[in-house]
Amino acid sequence: MKYLRAAALMAVSIGILSVTPAKALDTYLVGDAATGIAGSRHNLGGLSMHISSQATTEICVFCHTPHHSNTTNNLRPMWNRAAISNTSFTAYGTTASQTTISNTDIGSVSLACLSCHDGVTTFDNVVNAPGRGGVTQGGSDRGYEFLLTGILVSDFMTASRLVLGLDLSNDHPVSVLYGAGTAASLRPTNTTISQIDITTGLSVSSISFDNGNMGRNFWSVKGFISDRATIADLLRNGRVECSSCHDPHFNNKSWQEVDSTYTNVAAYQEVESNGLFLRRVGGNTGSGLCRTCHNK
Ligand code: HEC
Ligand code: HEC
Ligand code: HEC
Ligand code: HEC
Repeated sequence: MKYLRAAALMAVSIGILSVTPAKALDTYLVGDAATGIAGSRHNLGGLSMHISSQATTEICVFCHTPHHSNTTNNLRPMWNRAAISNTSFTAYGTTASQTTISNTDIGSVSLACLSCHDGVTTFDNVVNAPGRGGVTQGGSDRGYEFLLTGILVSDFMTASRLVLGLDLSNDHPVSVLYGAGTAASLRPTNTTISQIDITTGLSVSSISFDNGNMGRNFWSVKGFISDRATIADLLRNGRVECSSCHDPHFNNKSWQEVDSTYTNVAAYQEVESNGLFLRRVGGNTGSGLCRTCHNK
């Protein structure tokens, strides 16, 4: 009897398996978790296939710690890294709509990303070292060596396209208040993102283009692919930060223009793309990312 039931269950589960269509690499469905950090360039631990340190196999530790986190300049969340003081940065300044961003506004997640992408702070400059490694408030360089395909590499950001530096006046404004209805044709914050029609005026094929990602306009929000999220969900404290557009954990394989290069071969460095960690499924196809906030 037990046997039969098990067999029946197995038949059912095999049945379910066989009708589930294989999901394309660039297809993310509502409710899917925005995953992939382990296989991405944001894994700096010893088991990573990219730039990595043999000092630890941990992944999260290069950014987060459960205790003793660094909260200077409102650094978030549970931040385990040293940060350059925001006064060392040159802020965007004043926008065309007369919004002013000064360097004391820079904080939160943007300062967190910049704790590597400033091109100055070393990757191993952490507060709470892995295991019993100890705590250094404010962070300190741990002296780890970093390798790429077995070859010693620098332990701070060198690839020029990835170094934003200390001058943020030449980057899209960050730590800027989202002035819905008053600046830069910004849509209302309660706009449901998937309802925004970004295909109007484009060729009919735009709806199905990029496996339908262009028409769907799904974004990773709160760690999941969502069709319910609003623009407010992209903001942090009412502001646009790096993580409004990027999800540092989401190895996004859906941006055609970037991912056509993805071949998963041995020369990991410039071959594999993480879809630039963009939050939008489909990346910036048809400038869909830009036109989600800006009604242009
Ligand atoms: C390269 C840096 C980096 C690494 C490595 C990293 N995170 Fe994060 N994480 C961030 C940043 C930055 C944010 C803030 C993102 C935001 O504002 O949405 C964040 C936010 C989060 C959040 C809250 C928001 C969300 O997306 O759910 C969770 C949970 C989280 N991280 C878990 C983890 C875990 C678990 C790991 C290791 C497996 C990890 N992170 C590794 C940078 C990192
Ligand atoms: C712990 C250090 C660290 C932090 C913090 C960090 N990054 Fe990175 N990031 C890296 C490294 C290392 C690479 C790959 C460098 C290389 O290949 O030369 C990378 C690569 C990237 C790339 C390129 C991915 C691709 O597809 O080519 C983007 C985009 C990016 N990071 C954005 C961010 C954003 C946004 C944040 C904050 C939410 C962030 N990073 C925080 C270390 C970090
Ligand atoms: C308004 C949206 C937005 C914000 C805010 C934003 N980015 Fe980006 N970022 C993008 C887009 C879109 C791209 C892809 C650009 C392209 O096509 O090359 C990108 C590319 C990148 C790259 C890869 C550069 C390249 O061309 O390979 C890095 C690194 C990066 N962003 C880091 C950051 C960091 C760090 C912050 C915060 C200081 C930030 N971004 C804020 C939208 C944004
Ligand atoms: C998460 C929402 C959001 C996204 C996505 C976004 N922006 Fe913006 N953008 C803003 C906000 C907020 C401002 C500041 C408006 C102000 O107050 O002047 C802004 C300002 C601008 C400005 C004007 C800067 C000035 O000096 O006046 C330009 C140009 C711009 N964005 C282009 C882009 C482009 C291109 C993209 C896609 C790569 C993009 N934006 C994506 C929110 C966004």
